[in-house]
Order: sequence, then C-alpha cells, then structure tokens
Amino acid sequence: MAAKGAADINRSIFNEEAASYDEKHKKLSERLARELQTRLDFIGADWASDDEDSDKEGEDDNKKKPRREVRLLDYACGTGMMSRTFAPYTTQCVGMDISENMVAAYNTRAENQGLSPEEMHAVLGDLISHTPGDALLSPELFNFDIAVVGGGFHHFGDPGLAAKRLVERLKPGGVLLIWDFLPHGPLHRHGQHHHDHGHGKGEDYGHGHADNGDKQTSPNVLHSVMHHGFSESQMKEIFTAAGAGTDFQLEVIGGGFVLGHGHQQDENKNIASSGDWAEGDVAKDKEAFRRQVFFARGTKDL
Ligand SMILES: C[S@@+](CC[C@H](N)C(=O)[O-])C[C@H]1O[C@@H](n2cnc3c(N)ncnc32)[C@H](O)[C@@H]1O
Repeated sequence: MAAKGAADINRSIFNEEAASYDEKHKKLSERLARELQTRLDFIGADWASDDEDSDKEGEDDNKKKPRREVRLLDYACGTGMMSRTFAPYTTQCVGMDISENMVAAYNTRAENQGLSPEEMHAVLGDLISHTPGDALLSPELFNFDIAVVGGGFHHFGDPGLAAKRLVERLKPGGVLLIWDFLPHGPLHRHGQHHHDHGHGKGEDYGHGHADNGDKQTSPNVLHSVMHHGFSESQMKEIFTAAGAGTDFQLEVIGGGFVLGHGHQQDENKNIASSGDWAEGDVAKDKEAFRRQVFFARGTKDL
C-alpha cells in the first residue's frame, strides 16, 4: 500500500471516528496518561516544572521570571490525549493530524478547558506526505523540545519516514516519544474466517478485519491498521535512522491491553474490554485482542 493510500484511508476513517473517539477510548486513554505521567524521567524531556512560574514567598509579582518555554508537538494527535497528558509539564502543545474532524475536536477540547491557542491548538497536516504543503513549513511548527506520537505509528504507511519528519522538527537534544504495540497477530473472531489483506506487494499491510459473514459490524478502525505492532529492534532501527537513536529506550507497559474496536479497558482485570464489539466476542477472543503497549524514547542526535 502506497503511503497515499494509507493517508486516504486514515483520513476518512478517523473523520468518522472523531465524534465518538473520546467516549470509546476513555479508559485506555486514562490509563496511558497515568503510565506516561509516572515516567517523566524515563521520557527525559527538559520538562517545565511548575516551580518555575510560581513566585517565591514574598516576591514581587513584577519580578516573576517568565516561564521557560517547553514546546511539544503531538503528531497524529486525535482529540489530544497526549497533549493533555503532558500539558502540565510543557508551556505549549501543538497537535497535528490528518483528519480535519480530529483537529476540530482537539481544538474544541482545548478551548473548553479555557486554554488559549498559544497554549494548545492543533493544525491539519500529514508530514508523511510527499507534498506536505507550505502551511507546514511555518517556523512555529519547528524547534520542538519533544515530539510524541500516541497510538499512531501502526496506522502510518511509512513509519520510518514519519519518524524522520518528526525529528526534523525537534531542536537538537529534543526527544521523540512513541507509544504503540509490540508485534501481535491478526484478529480472529468466533473461529470464523478472517484474513489480512496484502494491499500492495511486500508491504506489511495486514489489518485483521472481520470477514465473518455474520454481518456483525466490522470495526471500521481496523481497516486503518497498517502494521501489526513493532519489535524493540524495529523501533530502535527507526529511531536511529531518523536521527534520534541517542539514549534509545523502550519500556513495555505491564498488564497487557486487550483491545476491541472500543479500546476500552477493564480496570479490574487490568486489561481492556471492547467498546462496540459484542461482549461475547471479547470474552471468547481475548487472546486475539491482547496487545502489549510500549513506550519508546530517543534523543535527537547532536
Ligand atoms: C488511534 S488514533 C490516536 C489519537 C491520539 N494520539 C490518542 O492518543 O488518542 C490515530 C490518529 O492518527 C491520525 N493519523 C493517521 N495517519 C496520519 C498521518 N499520516 N498523519 C497525521 N495523522 C495521522 C488519525 O487521524 C488519528 O487521529
């Protein structure tokens, strides 16, 4: 599948998903946010600390030092889960997504939180495109302290190119952070026939989709899955080739996530249960849905 094909698929599927995305992914997003926030040292960005803008006791307001800028690029931002997670430790979050409805949802949430566009806003963009457009060349879209991609890499036609394009947007010493899935098999449900499509020769374009003939809703979003996860060595290679292999580290998040379309997580079992697949499907096929999430980080080479 050419990257353009992947882009078209992603745009149309995530435009449809945008309105229901937060509700479907609430628990997964909450868990990931917690896991990420406990790993600020592992991520290793030059975070803004809250102390920096709090005035010392008795200090005159006029003498307050301006807060040091820490800018985050949230690529494939969706509705902004990663931005919201890191907002307390940064001074500006800029989202970028291929789906206009996701960008609109991100901006609405930021406004509703009372944030100014200067503090948090998203723009439409596809950095993997061979013709990203002049708007993405604006200086405000460069020189970030950290670039993050939350759950986006397995949707990209060309993850290696995505990493390169993101590293170009970091300042030297900036950090690239990705959460995604370790390698996993295609989906099988009900013991019925499912298959992965090879859309294009020699490309990893497996996307286990339900072809079960029972007319049960096929999870739309699975069609946009271009890669069945990434191994640690694949990620290291991607980071290194992109110029962010310095201090590369990958951590697998415990517990395991079992994902259906809804990507919702069952807190008690520390696994996810499906949002809009029938419950029985998930119960029977938990193993097929089991995913291991990793956080991978690397510093842009000096
Ligand atoms: C699974 S969602 C993750 C959203 C968000 N990062 C989060 O953690 O909730 C994947 C997102 O990737 C976006 N996306 C897919 N391909 C993209 C591309 N080539 N460039 C930018 N965004 C892309 C989709 O529109 C969608 O919003």
